[in-house]
Formats: sequence, C-alpha cells, structure tokens
Amino acid sequence: MMTVPEFKTKKTNRTKISMITCYDSSFARILSESPIDILLVGDSSSMVMQGQDSTIHATPESIAFFVKSVAMGALGKTFIVADMPFLSTRKTLENGVECAELLLKAGAHAVKIEGIRGNEKLVSHLVESGIPVMGHLGLTPQFVNAFGGMKVQAKSPEEQTLLLEEGKRFQDCGAFSLVLECVPAPIASRLTSHLTIPTIGIGAGAEVDGQVLVLQDLLGFNPDFKPRFLRSYLDGKRLFLDAFRAYHRDVIEHQFPTEKESY
Ligand code: KIV
Repeated sequence: MMTVPEFKTKKTNRTKISMITCYDSSFARILSESPIDILLVGDSSSMVMQGQDSTIHATPESIAFFVKSVAMGALGKTFIVADMPFLSTRKTLENGVECAELLLKAGAHAVKIEGIRGNEKLVSHLVESGIPVMGHLGLTPQFVNAFGGMKVQAKSPEEQTLLLEEGKRFQDCGAFSLVLECVPAPIASRLTSHLTIPTIGIGAGAEVDGQVLVLQDLLGFNPDFKPRFLRSYLDGKRLFLDAFRAYHRDVIEHQFPTEKESY
C-alpha cells in the first residue's frame, strides 16, 4: 500500500500517481488487486451511487458508509482517501475534526478538503493531529451554486494568480497532495512545478503528477456523459446490458439453470 511519505518520493522520481473513485466493496476488492495507487471515496458518491444532481447532498454519515464498504473490500492493500462533504469543514473546528475522525475510523487513511480559504486552521490542525489532508482546487463541485454550474475555472490571469496562491497555502498548511479539477493545462503545469507536493488532475492536462477519474465514468456506465477530459476504458453500459439480456433470455427460454447448475 502506498504511504503518505511516498507521495513526495513519486513526485521527485517523476512517477505518476493513479487515483480512481470507489464507493463499494466489490469494486474495492478488484481495484485492490490492480496497481491503482489511491481509492477516493468521493462525495461524487451522492451523484453516482445515490442519484442526486450535485455533491452537496453528501453527508459525513453517507461518506463514512461508503468508506466502510471500500475498506472492507480493499483489505488494507490500497490507500483510501475520503471526501470531507459539503459544509463539514465550515461550521466549527471541532465539527471538522469530528467528521475527519468519523472517516478515518471508518477506514480512510486521509481526507480530501475542497478549498483552502477559511479552511487553513482546520487543515493545519488535522495535519498536526496525524490526519493527512489532500487539497482540492479549481472546479470544486461543492461550490457549484457559487460558480453558476460545473465550469472550467482559473481562466483569467487574476483567477490563475489566486490558484497559485491557494495551492501554495494548502502546501504550507501541510497538505500532502492536491487535486486540480478542470483548470487550463498551462496553469496546472505551472502550479505543479511551483509545489513540492504532488498534484493530481482531472481535466487539468498532462503536466500534473497524477490523474483521477470517477470509476463509473472510466468504465463507460453513462456514455451520454462526455466531458472533454474523460477517457472511458470500457464500453461498460453495453457490456452490462448484453449480460443482462443474455441472462433474461436464458431464464425465459428455460436455458438457465441446467441440471449441472442445480442441486
Ligand atoms: O468526489 C469526487 O469524485 C472527486 C473527484 C472527481 C476528484 O472529488
């Protein structure tokens, strides 16, 4: 299993980091047999697993539920990061620490926090308390209403200066890595070379230290979802539908089960 100190080593050695979201034990079991470095129990679980229209519906309890399932499947073989969900870092320091405690006790090895502005104290406090923190900047989906939709961020020179500053602030507060979501590749590259901690991109181009994708997107479960950054590695929806149709056909045509498949 990858460890926190190894993140910097990977950056120094220019070895890329791979991260995939995961929300259940079946996929965690398969992923833990793959070379994937990190499983992210993202608040995207509220959309992917619970059918909500944004991540603001995720709660500490729902993330903890998914973390427990992932940890059971991963069997200690893969590093697990859990998202601190909407407003869980914004109420009080104590509330933030309690959420992180819940997620670590559920089986996460680190937490991910969207945005540094207003979160500096909490990030430093968690890091000082032995809880590794992964930052998240750019298109932070918990800010979807403030952004007016899921849009590419840091396009203007002012926003780019802010992104560079905020990345540095995450690093100064002790974050061990930083997710950059939907930002122009040149600014992601610039920030990556300014930081000593690794950056992990999604829609942030190739000049970052690692990549992350949502598992169900990577597997092609929803072919209608086609953002520019997404590469699907499987025609998942078609393959699953083929399997379900074949099973249904066998059942109605009395082809399943056979004598060999019966007791
Ligand atoms: O919740 C999530 O899936 C994420 C990734 C897209 C980075 O935060």
